Amino acid sequence: MIQKKGPVVLIDIDVDEVFKKALSMSRVDILDEIKKSGLKGRGGAGFPTETKWNLAGTASDDKKYVVCNADEGEPGTFKDRVLLSDYTDDLLAGMTIAGYVIGSTQGIIYLRCEYIYLYKHINNKIEERRKKNLLGKNILGKDGFNFDIYIQPGAGAYVCGEETALIESLEGHRGEPRNRPPYPTVVGYLGKPTIINNVETFITAMRIIDKGAEWFTKYGTDKSTGTKLFSISGDCRAPGIYELPMGITVKELLATVGGEDAKAVQVGGASGSCITRNEFNLTLAYEDISTGGSIIIFGEKRNMLDIAINFMEFFVEESCGQCTPCRYGTETLLEGLYMLKNKKCSIKYLKELLQLGETMQTASKCGLGQSAPNAFISILKNFKHEILCS
Ligand SMILES: Cc1cc2nc3c(=O)[nH]c(=O)nc-3n(C[C@H](O)[C@H](O)[C@H](O)COP(=O)(O)O)c2cc1C
Ligand code: SF4
Repeated sequence: MIQKKGPVVLIDIDVDEVFKKALSMSRVDILDEIKKSGLKGRGGAGFPTETKWNLAGTASDDKKYVVCNADEGEPGTFKDRVLLSDYTDDLLAGMTIAGYVIGSTQGIIYLRCEYIYLYKHINNKIEERRKKNLLGKNILGKDGFNFDIYIQPGAGAYVCGEETALIESLEGHRGEPRNRPPYPTVVGYLGKPTIINNVETFITAMRIIDKGAEWFTKYGTDKSTGTKLFSISGDCRAPGIYELPMGITVKELLATVGGEDAKAVQVGGASGSCITRNEFNLTLAYEDISTGGSIIIFGEKRNMLDIAINFMEFFVEESCGQCTPCRYGTETLLEGLYMLKNKKCSIKYLKELLQLGETMQTASKCGLGQSAPNAFISILKNFKHEILCS
């Protein structure tokens, strides 16, 4: 499954030593190091980690929460699963350090329900850390630093990976996104300041504390520092998980994974965009095409219209139905794709559908509806000839 390791995330370190080092540092020093590293969240949106931790850290409240987003529902993404199983201690230590930085006593892992088989393993690791006083009260003798972690399994909805829907779900409600602001760093779980980070983000923060911001920024680009885990699937010789420097071009990535013959690449899962050969020089970085790590490769024989239909069926299924642009838009775009398939869609109606897609991008309440038309728009734009003439 792991095809390429290192040099930042998929490495073996002495987790307990790094943890001790972190607790010997001040909260301000840790934040400073994370800031200098330029670390941006690895869940897809790329929000600066230091800003998030700082906002929650400065909020004055009696209770704060650290939540690990282990929902990993984006089609084509499977890198967090490996981190949860093989780098569990690194994650638990990273969450505990985040708790130390923001002044929280409780961590929660929101675990994708399909990963329930990992529950026992993660729980055993939590128990081991409690026994070693790496979780619990006065951790490693640090007076007043109390922190513990529990796992909350999800119930199988893609939208619950969206941070505010995740909070609703944690609270026992339907997983429907909230209006933002207020942001979770101020009003989060149970109305308290909450940081929500991706699994890879917590582990990357650990690495930065271990080896320093200067070392970390040697990898990647100015605005996209470090490395990134990519989940590679589709038409290539060696699918699996790769750790690669941020800023690598799509072409370089395809050469690495044996996908040189690709005619299209879906970057960022179903909610991402589908790019063609003439865009393969773009870089996988926040300044070009940002991604949570899902890369799906399509070879010459793939029918692009069928791919667009497949993605849109997913969004129709997963839309929570709370707001009209997404609820109505996903259904209407899917009907339009079926019409195209049956050669019953006029060019005029196709243009209207593309406009509807743009409206959804701006008017939907959360990232699900805002990104649902991305594949539709990019596939129709880039493969118009294939779709209309087949
Ligand atoms: C529909 C939808 C699903 C999402 N699913 C995930 C997910 O499975 N894992 C994740 O880390 N972030 C997911 N996100 C992004 C989260 O809302 C949030 O930005 C992220 O957990 C923040 O962590 P980071 O700053 O470490 O990236 C999703 C967003 C949307 C709109
Ligand atoms: S955009 Fe879609 S998933 Fe998000 S709140 Fe609206 S209906 Fe729900």
